[in-house]
Amino acid sequence: MSTTTNPVNIVIVGASGDLTRKKLLPALFSLYCNGFLPERFHIVGFARSTMNDKEFRMQVAETLTCRYEPEPSQCDIKVGQFLKRCHYHTGQYDNADDFRALGRRLEGLNGPRANMLMYMAIPPGVFLDTAHSIRQAGLSDEESRDWSRVVIEKPFGRDTESSAELTRALGEIFTEEQTYRIDHYLGKEVIQNLLILRFGNRIFEPIWNRDHIESISISFSEEIGVEGRAGYFDHFGIIRDVMQNHLLQAMALTAMEQPISLNPREIAEEKTKLLRATAPIDMEHTVTGQYEGYLTDPGVPEDSVTETFAATTLYVNTPRWYGVPFQLSAGKALDTQQTEIVIRFRELPYSLFPGVVGNCLRIRVQPNESIELIVNNKVPGMAFASSVVRLTMLYHEEFKTELPEAYERLLLDVLRGDRSLFIPTQELAAAWEVVTPALHRIETERLKPQTYAYGSAGPGGKAPDAPTPHSEEDRGHGG
Ligand code: BG6
Repeated sequence: MSTTTNPVNIVIVGASGDLTRKKLLPALFSLYCNGFLPERFHIVGFARSTMNDKEFRMQVAETLTCRYEPEPSQCDIKVGQFLKRCHYHTGQYDNADDFRALGRRLEGLNGPRANMLMYMAIPPGVFLDTAHSIRQAGLSDEESRDWSRVVIEKPFGRDTESSAELTRALGEIFTEEQTYRIDHYLGKEVIQNLLILRFGNRIFEPIWNRDHIESISISFSEEIGVEGRAGYFDHFGIIRDVMQNHLLQAMALTAMEQPISLNPREIAEEKTKLLRATAPIDMEHTVTGQYEGYLTDPGVPEDSVTETFAATTLYVNTPRWYGVPFQLSAGKALDTQQTEIVIRFRELPYSLFPGVVGNCLRIRVQPNESIELIVNNKVPGMAFASSVVRLTMLYHEEFKTELPEAYERLLLDVLRGDRSLFIPTQELAAAWEVVTPALHRIETERLKPQTYAYGSAGPGGKAPDAPTPHSEEDRGHGG
């Protein structure tokens, strides 16, 4: 992997937030240690809090991890060198003059022609003001430099209409080519592997359809609640926070048709088609929950009906998937911390062996990234007795290397101008269409989520399957 050699300024707008400290700066540091940042780069944090460079560097130093340097002494040197490139600029998001002053500072650091990567790690309410200020200050101008790119973090709106409006408004400020909408799940190694697992192996594609697959589940669970983020979370809820983006992206990659090439446009097109063929969430086949104690989290209104858990069953109306339930679930404050995709194959139409079960492919996104195929196997020494065994590939054993953080990959892609892992407008709109009707019902009817205990499995298990449009035989159960 190589990256641009021209000087680059990386501006993190919203630099005093958690995302910057926990994810962005450690990711940039790893890229730096690995030699992926150009010789002449500077990172400038921009935010409203008053801080000088020294204070910012102290904050940054606290969260830097140095996983590429075995030698602690070397690590200290790298940290020191990296911190020298980190700067801080105080300013208001809606003040173009503050951004002009930032521009002058950047010029002083790297000259007038340095490329620009601006990362908007800011609340959605200030997206547009910030975008205007950036534009007015000439920072998005591509006449004087090779490129100027803007990375936007979700939420991209609250529903189909507001997302379209945000897209339209941002489209008047930045070009689509300049805009990188990030979904960090696309930077995760196992999610990226879905393409090669499906289309790089002959054995899966012929059986990757309704004739052979019983159901697919995609689940996300976290052990912690919304601690410290309630202000944001309560306005969005888990359907917008995780399902509309991370889980639908995982589903699109799991179920889409093979793109005609690896060109980002072709991949996005197939994902978009899949999302368009997905029937919107039906609240009759959806369970929402709220963990006990959520209402007392600081920042949460006492009568909030925001869901911290949701499980639903989706159907994709294509010949390949008609009638196959896609069970999606996402929740906070649950009993496990894991994300996985499970493909359950149908049982044999007829079997000679008692007790054999349908095969299953378990793709563990995190933690302990792995791929596991569950098959029936003869029990040694016993005639024709079968047991269920796992054929497992653990990433850490197979590849003997720590997997890069999602943000490393994504930031590197922005630097290289590779858009494969970012969400284009049409795809974003298609994903919103899947969730918007349900979100409107939840809001207009103030549907109350079920309460579940903090640290439990969530409310009442998984979502019920919707009745299938055709008989079991039609669905390909066979025998
Ligand atoms: C974010 C959500 O997009 O993803 C968070 O806003 C969630 O609520 C997080 O905790 C999960 O990311 P990861 O990489 O820890 O699975």
